[in-house]
This record gives sequence, C-alpha cells and structure tokens, in this order.
Amino acid sequence: MTSSSTSPASGADEIPSLYGPGTTVKRVRTRHLIDAKERGEKWAMLTSYDQYTAALFDEAGIPALLIGDSAANNVYGYETTLQVSVDELLPLVAAVARSTKRTLVVADLPFGSYEAGPAQALETAVRFMKAGAHAVKLEGGRRMAAQIRALTDAGIPVMGHIGFTPQSEHSIGGYRVQGRDAQAAEIVADAHAVADAGAFAVVLEMVTSSVAAEITKQLPIPTVGIGAGPETDAQVLVWQDMAGLRGGKPPRFVKRYADLASVLQGAVKAYADEVRAGEFPAREHGFE
Ligand code: KIV
Repeated sequence: MTSSSTSPASGADEIPSLYGPGTTVKRVRTRHLIDAKERGEKWAMLTSYDQYTAALFDEAGIPALLIGDSAANNVYGYETTLQVSVDELLPLVAAVARSTKRTLVVADLPFGSYEAGPAQALETAVRFMKAGAHAVKLEGGRRMAAQIRALTDAGIPVMGHIGFTPQSEHSIGGYRVQGRDAQAAEIVADAHAVADAGAFAVVLEMVTSSVAAEITKQLPIPTVGIGAGPETDAQVLVWQDMAGLRGGKPPRFVKRYADLASVLQGAVKAYADEVRAGEFPAREHGFE
C-alpha cells in the first residue's frame, strides 16, 4: 500500500482512490498522482478558469485542474494560445486556487514566459506559485530540460507537455499528429528528458496511441493524454469542449458529455421571451 492508499472500513470500498469513499487524500499532491500510476488507477484532468467550474470539478472528483493557456481561446477570445499573457492568466489561477479544496492546481506557463532560459522560467513560475498554483506546466521536451530542472530544484513541481505543443504550431506546421515513423524515437526521447529533469507528470498531446502506450510503460511518472489514445495513465480535456459549450466541430479526440451551449441558449431565449412578454419579473420576484 502506498502513502495515498485508503483504509476502507468495509469490503465494498476496497479500491484505493485519489477521491471517493474512504480515501485518506485531503489535498491531492504530486506524489499521490505518482502513487496512482503505481497501482494502475487512471484519473481525469480538466481545464478550469473560474471559481464556479473549479469548485464544481473539485467536488465532482477531478484530482488535477489546469489553468491552461487555452484560456486564450476559451476565455479571452484570441485565435491562438500564443497571444495570452502571464498577467491575463494570473487572476484566473488565483480564482481557481481560491475555489478548490482538494484538487491539484496546475498553471500553464504561456508562450514567451519561459523559453529564454531557466532564469526566465523560474521568475515566471514563482509568480504563478505566489498566485496560488501548486504546480506549473510548460511545453517542450529535451529543449526545455534545463528549465524543468531549474524549477524542480527550486521546489516547483512541473508537468511537462510534449508531442503536439500548440505554442509551437507555426514551427510544427499546424495541428499535426506526432510520433509517426521516425518521429516516434524523438517523442520517446523527449518523454525521458522531461522525466529525468524532474517533472512529476507529462502531457502527451496528439501522439499516436502506440507511442503514447510505450512512453506510459517506460516512464515512472504519469502520462496525461489528449488525443493520445486509451493507454495513458490519465486524460485531460478542455472543459468547454467536453461539456459542449464551444460551438463548431470538436477535434476528433474530444468526446462531448453534454450540450451546454443548447441548455444555455434555451435558458437565455426563455428569459428574453418572458421579459418581452411581461411575464418576468412576476410578483414574487419583487419587494413590497
Ligand atoms: O492549455 C491547455 O488547455 C492545455 C491542455 C489541454 C493540455 O495545455
């Protein structure tokens, strides 16, 4: 049994778990996620950028929340993640951290805030940790090993991110699956570089399922897949994608678990119709 194992009182709950009945995990730490890999427990991560979704996802049993640079497209209305800044992400990180009790809060380092070298990465990561993050995420494999090492040496847990890295979309040449043919060895080398530099987990984005499965087998740290097949230790999705808030055709790797856009649109139309018809507010909504 590992440090995060449960001590269930009855046989019914005898499954060690990050969340759920009998768990002893009060605040999810990076070591709990590594323990989960050892015992083969899969877990789900979601993005969150505000207090209501953060509290809701925390209560629903999501052990890690990411304030992704995907806030660029999903909060700020930018076309790509390259445009969002540290100053725009910091308040979102603070809001999510303030609104959760158990989940591990991971802040994404945006484009331009860490590539110059370990000193720049450390300065940026410290700002996110002071805002309330418990860990940071950054994109890049071997080319970012020095940055990852500098942060972990300073006591800042790092989640790596390799495969398709959206901040490099212009040099990669668009949204392209990574790891086919000769590229497979490159991705595996990146995964090892990230783990060897001290990262506690690594996101594998749009990596072929077979390469993701092989990396998951080889690494001692959890792999978090997005478009990387079913065999990674964990999965991550942008919450607006999985809940159907964002319109348009979702990427192939997204599964929509709800149609929030229709629900919200229906509610808003009903409200507007009732105001136009003089039905809202009714007597009970007013004061005498
Ligand atoms: O910014 C983000 O949302 C991400 C993930 C979805 C991995 O980096």
